[in-house]
Amino acid sequence: MAAFVETATEIALAAGSLLRYFFERRVRFEMKGDYDLVTEADRASEKLVVERLREHFPTHSIVAEEGGGQETGTEYRWYVDPLDGTTNFAHGYPAWNVTMALEKSGELIAGVVFDPFRGELFAAEKGSGAFLNGHRLKVSAASRIADSLLCTGFPNHNRKTNPNIHYFHDLAMSAHGVRRGGSAGIDLAYVAAGRLDGFWEFGLSPWDMAAGIVLIEEAGGVCSDMAGRKHFLKSPHLLADNGLVHAELLGVFGEISAGRSRHAMPVPSAL
Ligand code: IPD
Ligand code: CA
Ligand code: CA
Repeated sequence: MAAFVETATEIALAAGSLLRYFFERRVRFEMKGDYDLVTEADRASEKLVVERLREHFPTHSIVAEEGGGQETGTEYRWYVDPLDGTTNFAHGYPAWNVTMALEKSGELIAGVVFDPFRGELFAAEKGSGAFLNGHRLKVSAASRIADSLLCTGFPNHNRKTNPNIHYFHDLAMSAHGVRRGGSAGIDLAYVAAGRLDGFWEFGLSPWDMAAGIVLIEEAGGVCSDMAGRKHFLKSPHLLADNGLVHAELLGVFGEISAGRSRHAMPVPSAL
């Protein structure tokens, strides 16, 4: 199995160099939807990743964001996000990554997230731990929301019907802060690294979160949907944290979902 992580790492490093080349030259973007950007860098990176995965693992299925993958019907499936954080990338904001994860018979077994800008390679394989540039990772020790730094995301799809602003507001009033990094792969890797205590988002795609789930679980954290059900890419809604704040976060999510936010949202006229 180490061979899977090693190969994915090699491919992620190559895709990362390619993405840096485009980033330094600033590429034009096109719109795939109201808020959904895509660039030639997304497509070039996907081509590289998919071609190399096929060379190494010709029988494996590949699900890739820009559509370059294919189903082969075998037990192994790769999830590829060739550029996670395209909006940041297109604006010259240095928070984006390339990420891929491997599933075997429905279970995630390996994942990598590479941030070329900081030279940080997060890698994990089931049962062997999670690592940042070779150093073992462990989730944070914060045990209360009140002591936590959290992070969330607002998806590119169906943003107008996404209720996240209510959860964002409530938790911003309760925690040390809520970040919105713009790159789910890095956000999740930071939970595994103990730089963040928890992350959530409504409406993720499997390639956004697959590697992050392996990283967090291997670093001692917990991933579920917003109702606490074990999360294996079956739900687009993800709550991922150090495990110590999971129950409290689930309680808060339950309250907000039932319309009982603990902090009234101020109206603009109050200014
Ligand atoms: C997006 C980023 C963002 C998250 C969105 C994702 P993309 O990925 O991860 O942080 O909030 O839901 O779609 O489109 O840049 O690969
Ligand atoms: Ca993504
Ligand atoms: Ca992407």
